[in-house]
Amino acid sequence: MLSINEYRSEFIAYLDAKKLDKEPRNLYEPISYIIGLGGKRLRPVLVLMATEVFDIDYKRALDAAFAIEVFHNFSLVHDDIMDNAPVRRGQTTVHEKWDINTGILSGDAMLIMAYQLFENYDPPVFRQLAMLFSKTALEVCEGQQYDVDFESRDDVMLPEYLKMIEYKTAVLVAAALKMGAIVAEAPIKAQERMYDFGLNLGIAFQLQDDYLDVFGDPETFGKQVGGDIIENKKTYLYLKAMISASEMGKKELEHLYSIQPKETDTKVHAVREIFKRTGADAATRNAISDYTAKAFSVLEDMEISAVKKGLLRQFGEKLMNRTV
Ligand code: IPE
Ligand code: IPE
Ligand code: MG
Ligand code: MG
Ligand code: MG
Repeated sequence: MLSINEYRSEFIAYLDAKKLDKEPRNLYEPISYIIGLGGKRLRPVLVLMATEVFDIDYKRALDAAFAIEVFHNFSLVHDDIMDNAPVRRGQTTVHEKWDINTGILSGDAMLIMAYQLFENYDPPVFRQLAMLFSKTALEVCEGQQYDVDFESRDDVMLPEYLKMIEYKTAVLVAAALKMGAIVAEAPIKAQERMYDFGLNLGIAFQLQDDYLDVFGDPETFGKQVGGDIIENKKTYLYLKAMISASEMGKKELEHLYSIQPKETDTKVHAVREIFKRTGADAATRNAISDYTAKAFSVLEDMEISAVKKGLLRQFGEKLMNRTV
């Protein structure tokens, strides 16, 4: 097997050879723009790694890896419209650089491109990839709808939140690993283990995303720090703070999450202080460790070599310590 960085380089080399720019420019330019902005390329790396875990050359998985990455980028373009996000990967978001209609249609095209990439696989593998992908993509939509619904609800409970992030984020991480196993034609049981490993890792990953959205370094984070607070997102931090806060603290937080001030810095600062004061920050860090540990225990039970386990574990550890 290669190292994590080598898988990323191989994927980027494959991407560089693709010609994404076509006519009409206003459809394809935003696509090559968002994909060209990079990002961590976590999901395609997972597809390639998972294929090699089952002793099949990662090259067979490059199209499936690209499918997942194009889908992920589609979901980000639409997510940024839904979240009113100005910045992505340190640059202007597609709907701000072009306009909302461009973001919608370029996003739609990316979703279709993702499906098209599966056509490069033989019928039995194609069918399995397409089935998993359709199920996953619908779940992502469901998760995204819950996420938006929660903005205007004040009775969201932790289990609902966990379900929401499982759907909007974790299932795609899980599917990336399972797709690698499908391309490698690994036994069903092994495919399912990979999926469960990814699901727990994906939950930890979204918890970390929520954490960084509040406590990340604006210089390096690549997104608008405080964006979730501005949009009244009911994140783990918010729900934990509501559980631990005093009556006065609860009222204050509820009030802050009911206003849409023109000037947002004061709101972001006040909420961040409540998250710290109530220990919601530490609780979130603990939850990230717990879900990562759960992922590792699934990994321990897998019937693969220690070296392979070590590489997957290393991936999880890197995720947990990320700052972007
Ligand atoms: C951002 O995903 C969206 C979430 C599911 C949290 P990433 O953090 O993987 O984004 P990039 O691709 O690295 O920019
Ligand atoms: C993103 O969740 C999930 C999907 C894009 C499906 P977020 O809204 O938290 O992602 P970021 O923070 O904008 O990357
Ligand atoms: Mg967002
Ligand atoms: Mg969102
Ligand atoms: Mg986020």
